[in-house]
Amino acid sequence: MATKEVPKHIGIIMDGNGRWAKKRLLPRVLGHRQGAIALDNLLNAAKGLGVEHITVYAFSTENWKRTEDEVKGIMGILRDYINKYFREYADSDFRVDSIGDLSALSEDLQRDIANLKEVSKNKTGIHLTIAMNYGGRDEIKRAVQKIAEDVKNNKINTEDITEGLISDYLDSAGTPDPELIIRTSGELRTSNFLMWQSAYSEYYITDKLWPDFTIDDFKEAISVYQNRDRRFGGRNEAKQ
Ligand code: FPP
Repeated sequence: MATKEVPKHIGIIMDGNGRWAKKRLLPRVLGHRQGAIALDNLLNAAKGLGVEHITVYAFSTENWKRTEDEVKGIMGILRDYINKYFREYADSDFRVDSIGDLSALSEDLQRDIANLKEVSKNKTGIHLTIAMNYGGRDEIKRAVQKIAEDVKNNKINTEDITEGLISDYLDSAGTPDPELIIRTSGELRTSNFLMWQSAYSEYYITDKLWPDFTIDDFKEAISVYQNRDRRFGGRNEAKQ
C-alpha cells in the first residue's frame, strides 16, 4: 500500500551549484550564493506543508579538498546566512540546528551558530538542521568514541548499546530519521550524508541543479514519495 503521509523529515543534498555557475560563466562561489537563495525561498514556501524537519548538506568533511577560494566562499555564505537568520529570529518561526564537527570551523562562526541555536530553540516552525563539516562516517566515529568513553567510565554497560542508543549518541539525536532524501543534479550517490539515519529513507533524484530547485519541485518529490511502497524489509500486504 502506498503511504500517503507527508514525510516529517526530509534531507536535501544541494548539488549542482558549480555547474549552475559554469553554465553562466560565473565563479563557482556565485553558484553557492544562488544556492543559499534557493534554500531560503524553499524554506519560506515549505511552511504549512506538514514537513517538520529539514536537514541540508551545506559542507561535507570532504569539501575541504576544494580550492581555498571556494572553501572561503562557502564559509562566507554560511556566515551571512546564519547572521541573517539571527537578525530575523524574533519574527521567524524556524528552529535552527547543526550537525557535523563544528570544532574545525572558525571561532566566530561556531559562536554565531551556538547563538542562533540558543535563541531559536523554542521556535515551533520548521526545524532546520544545517550539516556543516559533516560526514556520516565521521559522525558515527565520534558517536562510537563517546560510547566507548561512557562504557569505560561505567556510565553505560556494553549490553545497553542498542540501535536506539547509537542514534542518541549521533549529532542528530532527538530528530527522527528522514523518510525522504532529495538529491539534485542527477548524481546517484549518497555522499556520506546521514549514513546511519537513512537506512530506510526513500531517495528522490532530480536532474535540476540546486539553484533552480523550487517549491514545486519539492512538492513533486513529496508526491513521488507518497506513491512509493515503503516496506522496511517486510512484505507489502496488498501485493501478497
Ligand atoms: C554542491 O554543489 C554544493 C555544496 C558543496 C555546497 C552547498 C552550499 C550551499 C547551497 C550554500 C550554503 C548553504 C547554506 C545552508 C546557506 P557542487 O559545488 O558540488 O556543484 P557541482 O557538482 O555542480 O560542481
